[in-house]
Amino acid sequence: MSIIVTGSIATDYLMKYPGHFREHILPGQDKLSVSFLVEEKHMSRGGVGPNIAYSLALLGQRPRLMAAAGQDFGDYRAWLEAQGVDTSLTVAFADEFTATFTVITDLDQNQIAEFHAGAMSRARELSFRGLDPKGIDLVIISPNDPAGMLKYAAECRELGIKFIFDPSQQLARLDGAQVLVGLEGAHALTVNDYELELVKSKTGLDDAGILDRVRLLVVTRGPDGASLISRDRRVDVPVAKPRAIADPTGVGDAFRGGLITGLVRGYPWEVTGRLGALAATYCLEQVGTMNHRYTVAEFVARYRESFGDAPELVDW
Ligand SMILES: Nc1ncnc2c1ncn2[C@@H]1O[C@H](COP(=O)(O)OP(=O)(O)OP(=O)(O)O)[C@@H](O)[C@H]1O
Ligand SMILES: [Mg+2]
Repeated sequence: MSIIVTGSIATDYLMKYPGHFREHILPGQDKLSVSFLVEEKHMSRGGVGPNIAYSLALLGQRPRLMAAAGQDFGDYRAWLEAQGVDTSLTVAFADEFTATFTVITDLDQNQIAEFHAGAMSRARELSFRGLDPKGIDLVIISPNDPAGMLKYAAECRELGIKFIFDPSQQLARLDGAQVLVGLEGAHALTVNDYELELVKSKTGLDDAGILDRVRLLVVTRGPDGASLISRDRRVDVPVAKPRAIADPTGVGDAFRGGLITGLVRGYPWEVTGRLGALAATYCLEQVGTMNHRYTVAEFVARYRESFGDAPELVDW
């Protein structure tokens, strides 16, 4: 199966604050000046593109990552290749640095984050033209340079390439008209429950309006599971019980890795959604977005343990 993942590439700095942000951010104050003494700091390779591609590779796919990185990308590229990600469509721009993402998580799992784009702003220079559209089963358009995201959506529509529009965090940067451009004709729209409300308020669409434009709406709801919704069907999937919760960063991306695997393998939505849920749970159990590991056999065994048997998975 040929899957192309587009999305940001970043170096992440993940920190833990051993307190509660809410005790420091006071409603009604018109000034904000806070500094958090953090306890732990992990540097890790991240970005939405690699995060999703990583879970796909764990699940036995060989995704192509199409993204923009900087001059410092060499080690990261070698590492991704070693994980089974094809980086031939990823461009390292010699005059840029790879994006950085910094996030502080407090004891309530609240997060404060910052993102510096760097080379990511060059993603709009990449293109699907020149690739053989017939050789592409599915593309995911994940948070990235906003102009790049909209360009990829337009190209996929024009070239007849099936795509998932996954605006996530980048919804903050897209206005209603742009969100409409991105989701029009998408095979699927993936959002969490908060982002679904943002999509609705920005575009003025209700569920039915969204489902007139995309075939499948996938909504994740953190510990409350996820739903796969079309015009005539709705499948709710539970979470896979975590053994421990280490860090929620990247769970949404890992979920998408499982979801895409189920879609390209043609599994029923009940299974596809659970693949997403379990891929997410593995990520939740480690600090960082690509520090979890499993073989396909281990994954299938834990799937059965979490959800019971699924005949679809017998030959996987
Ligand atoms: N506490 C949890 N326990 C079990 N599974 C979880 C938990 N939190 C998230 N998940 C799984 O991950 C999926 C995606 O989570 P969520 O809806 O929080 O994504 P998100 O908001 O996009 O996350 P992020 O953007 O921080 O990666 C959920 O549908 C669920 O399957
Ligand atoms: Mg998310």
